[in-house]
Amino acid sequence: MGELRIGMVGYAFMGEAHSQAWRTVNRVYDLPVRARMSLIAGRDKANVAAAADRLGWDEHTTDWRDLISRDDIDLVDICTPGDSHAEIACAALAAGKHVLCEKPLANTVEEARAMVAAADTARERGVRAMCGFTYRRVPAVTFMRRLIADGRLGDLRHVRAVYLQDWITDPEFPLVWRLQKDKAGSGALGDIGAHIIDMTQFVTGQAITGVSGLTETFVRERPLASADGAALGAAKAAETSKGQVTVDDAALFIARLSGGAVATFEATRMATGRKNGLRIEVNGTKGSLAFDLERLNELEFYDATLPGTELGFRRILVTEPEHPYLSAWWPTGHLIGYEHGFTHQARDLLEAIGNGTDPLPSFADALGVQLVLDAVEKSAETGGWVQL
Ligand SMILES: NC(=O)c1ccc[n+]([C@@H]2O[C@H](COP(=O)([O-])OP(=O)(O)OC[C@H]3O[C@@H](n4cnc5c(N)ncnc54)[C@H](O)[C@@H]3O)[C@@H](O)[C@H]2O)c1
Repeated sequence: MGELRIGMVGYAFMGEAHSQAWRTVNRVYDLPVRARMSLIAGRDKANVAAAADRLGWDEHTTDWRDLISRDDIDLVDICTPGDSHAEIACAALAAGKHVLCEKPLANTVEEARAMVAAADTARERGVRAMCGFTYRRVPAVTFMRRLIADGRLGDLRHVRAVYLQDWITDPEFPLVWRLQKDKAGSGALGDIGAHIIDMTQFVTGQAITGVSGLTETFVRERPLASADGAALGAAKAAETSKGQVTVDDAALFIARLSGGAVATFEATRMATGRKNGLRIEVNGTKGSLAFDLERLNELEFYDATLPGTELGFRRILVTEPEHPYLSAWWPTGHLIGYEHGFTHQARDLLEAIGNGTDPLPSFADALGVQLVLDAVEKSAETGGWVQL
């Protein structure tokens, strides 16, 4: 079995989630290649050394360019904010490294297009690129796509997708990088709206063809955060001056899909009480399916082809070995959680690289999401319909 030597940039939230996946994936799945956690990059020497030790990386560096220049790195895993995705990904692909890049692919459509061009050139040399829309790999979501593709919902009429969080409801919450356009690209729209855009296109197999949206920034100034965008402690933040919030707190939009369905989307980090409330429901002529990330082992299915006396939503526990990804985990009914999606992502990427095929979602798929984000922003500015 070949070894794939990973170099990862960033070691906070996603860096930890991806580390967990790289550590676990070959223990759970039988794969053509084995991931080796070779080199981790961060900007602070002491912190990156501590992260390497805690997360299980062989070596560490304070410059991501070391990942590109070293011959003993095969894949670059980008877990930084969007402002560095394009530069790191394009450099890695040009150097012949496979790339896994976190979502959203970039901060602008222009950057995303450059990344797709770099991925297309690299593919000719057998180098692979993939974007981290992880929720596709929740077994219930993959299963939802399978049921829809099998025609179990008939012709699709509606998609209703929301992603609701509440971590910035306090106006004294500091100006972290996710609230700055130059670092994050956009606010709730690109951070969590991107997930429900990708999930909608993934489960329905249809593309979003036009949108009309609005965005709102409820809190326009916040206490400054530290230089690297991390939150300051409450007392420290109170002493400092305030800075401008340059992204949306909430984004809502309606859309048309290529197969004739219509869709509504809501992404907000101001939904008091909702912690990580991603829900999607699809209604078709033969039935409906509903998924809720806070109950991620379950799928609700209404099969309208059953006799009237038996109609009703039923709960499918998506933990059978025949369900996607689950044969390698625990006995039926022994639930999985948030982190498993990242292991499934690592599995699919290693399998594609080992078999010489293209992993999904591709950079081109992620550009498709970026175009929708851009269209929603344009629509919010003009108040009109934006065709894609
Ligand atoms: N797939 C998912 O479900 C999911 C979930 C959360 C975040 N994300 C995405 O992952 C990315 C990172 O988000 P996060 O939540 O981990 O953020 P984070 O703030 O927790 O971590 C970002 C890390 O990047 C480092 N960093 C920033 N700029 C850097 C640079 N120029 N060079 C080296 N290191 C740098 C920071 O020091 C930190 O370690 C974002 O694109 C975000 O949208 C994806």
